[in-house]
Amino acid sequence: MDRATSSLQHAHAASGIQPPAVLIEYICGTTLADYNAAKLPNLPFTIFRPLFDAVSKFKDLGVYHGDVSSSNILVSPSEAPVRAALIDFGRAGVREDGESEEDWAGICDFYSDEDGSRLALKANGIPWPVHKSCAE
Ligand SMILES: Nc1ncnc2c1ncn2[C@@H]1O[C@H](COP(=O)(O)OP(=O)(O)O)[C@@H](O)[C@H]1O
Ligand SMILES: [Mg+2]
Repeated sequence: MDRATSSLQHAHAASGIQPPAVLIEYICGTTLADYNAAKLPNLPFTIFRPLFDAVSKFKDLGVYHGDVSSSNILVSPSEAPVRAALIDFGRAGVREDGESEEDWAGICDFYSDEDGSRLALKANGIPWPVHKSCAE
């Protein structure tokens, strides 16, 4: 069993939800990569703030995404985005029972979700640090 499957089973057991289920939502939008490739207008930078707030909490919450990139961020709706959502949890995982702080820190460093978020923004011409500048 791979690490992601094992992690998922732990998460289901901890959640108490039976049978195990994954909740999904269809988001009507465009990936950030496609949005910028098409040079579409009307992309307010502030819509990324909640996404980065969430990503910055992943480590403390015991989860990682593992594949943060502009191809895995949807902006919605396409015509005039008001929301940015992280998708594609195929490489995601959760902290396993008994995992040491050191091991967990190493895993988070390896997957580097925050770096992925920052690079996805910069690669698409979004000023950094939007996260900090939007905080006030
Ligand atoms: N929740 C969603 N809502 C709407 N479209 C989605 C959603 N998740 C994925 N997609 C669409 O499917 C494409 C591929 O999804 P993704 O999960 O990133 O798969 P892959 O593993 O091939 O990268 C996305 O670029 C997007 O167009
Ligand atoms: Mg993807």
